[in-house]
Order: sequence, then structure tokens, then C-alpha cells
Amino acid sequence: MINVKNVSKHFKNETAIDYNDITFEDGKTYMLLGASGCGKSTLLNMIAGILSPESGSIEINGEDITKKSQKEKDLFRIKKIGYIFQDFKLIPEMTVADNINILKLENVDTSAMDEILEKLGILSKKNKKIKHLSGGEKQRVAIARAIVKKPEIILADEPTGNLNFAIGEAVIKELTEISRGKTLIAVTHDERLAKYFDYTIDMNEVTGGRRDV
Ligand SMILES: Nc1ncnc2c1ncn2[C@@H]1O[C@H](COP(=O)(O)OP(=O)(O)O)[C@@H](O)[C@H]1O
Ligand SMILES: [Mg+2]
Repeated sequence: MINVKNVSKHFKNETAIDYNDITFEDGKTYMLLGASGCGKSTLLNMIAGILSPESGSIEINGEDITKKSQKEKDLFRIKKIGYIFQDFKLIPEMTVADNINILKLENVDTSAMDEILEKLGILSKKNKKIKHLSGGEKQRVAIARAIVKKPEIILADEPTGNLNFAIGEAVIKELTEISRGKTLIAVTHDERLAKYFDYTIDMNEVTGGRRDV
């Protein structure tokens, strides 16, 4: 379970975002909707231990990650969290397999790679360079890399942002399918995709948007 309590995040004392308390149950899938700038990516980054809030706590299975050192947070993220970044963070000159096997540097077991690429329909692209793939294929590689370590929690920041509706819908179907039994928190802009998730959270209501400080 992930409990976000009394969290506020300030950026360089210019913008502050206050979050109402939110709970994410284990094994459920959540779609986060909300206007640009309302604090969706910031929330994912705080859950992943990439950003720290100025106040409040983020408990994951009873442990407050905001209290951990940066090194402990990094280890926690490597072991427990699959993060699908909005801009993929794939290396264009490297192959699909090498982009996934790079995780071995962090002692991640990538032996499930072929099975996952197969499920996502891109096993035939395994030895292709990222720069030769379509947008939908790159998105699937980013998903495969996040999933290969069998994380408990999957965070996906606008996984359909760069895709047309039909391809985006196919990707969301695959992502929610492959995430079964895990906690999935995905930001999307399209309410038509809500039916693939257990819950939809309107982040405009959670944060009330940003305020200037
Ligand atoms: N690194 C940063 N420095 C200053 N302000 C930031 C930074 N990151 C985000 N913000 C501010 O925080 C707000 C929320 O950003 P973000 O979480 O990226 O929104 P969303 O993902 O919902 O579009 C934005 O209004 C932005 O101005
Ligand atoms: Mg964002």
C-alpha cells in the first residue's frame, strides 16, 4: 500500500503544490488525470524517491521513503519500482536488448526479457536499434524495461502521450494486462482509457493545482 499524507512540494520557493491524502492499494491499477502543471509527474517522482517533499510522508508498505537516504531510495527504486518515463530514457544508438540489459549494471535480473518482449509483440525487434523503431514500439520497450525486474509498483508517466489513440489504447491494454497483480499508477490525458483501470483519480481535485509562494 502507498500512503501519501500531508505532502507538499515547493520548487525553488516559487511554486508549491499541496496534495490531499491519497492511498494506493496493492495490486490495483490507477489512472491519474489532470491539467498540465497540476503535479502529476511530481507525485510519481516523489513516490519513486527521485524528488523529496518538503513536508508530509510517503509510506510504501509501512516504510516512509521520505526518511531514507538518497542511496537507500535509489536501491528501493531499483528493486521495487518499474518507472516508465514520459521521454522513455532509451539510448537511440543501442539495441532493444542492450537497453534492457543495461539494468544488469544495477544487478537486475533481465532473464524475463524475451517473454516480456513476446507479450508486448516486439520480440522480433530485440536486436534492432531504438532509433529505427516507431513511437509505439519505443513505448513498448520502455514498458518492457520497467517490467523485466518484476517490480511491485509500476509508475507510468503519460505512456500514451506520443501515440495516436488506437496505438495508445493498445499500449494501455497491454500495460494494464502485464501489470496484473501489481500496483500500477499511470498518468494519461484520455478519459476513454479509464475503463482499463480499477480506479481513476482526478489530480485537479487532489492538488487544487499549483499556487505561487
Ligand atoms: N524542477 C522544477 N522547478 C520549478 N518548478 C517545477 C519543477 N518541476 C515542476 N515544477 C512546477 O510544478 C508544477 C507541477 O509540475 P508537474 O508535476 O510536472 O506537472 P504535471 O506532470 O501534472 O504536468 C508545475 O506547475 C511546474 O511549474
Ligand atoms: Mg507531467
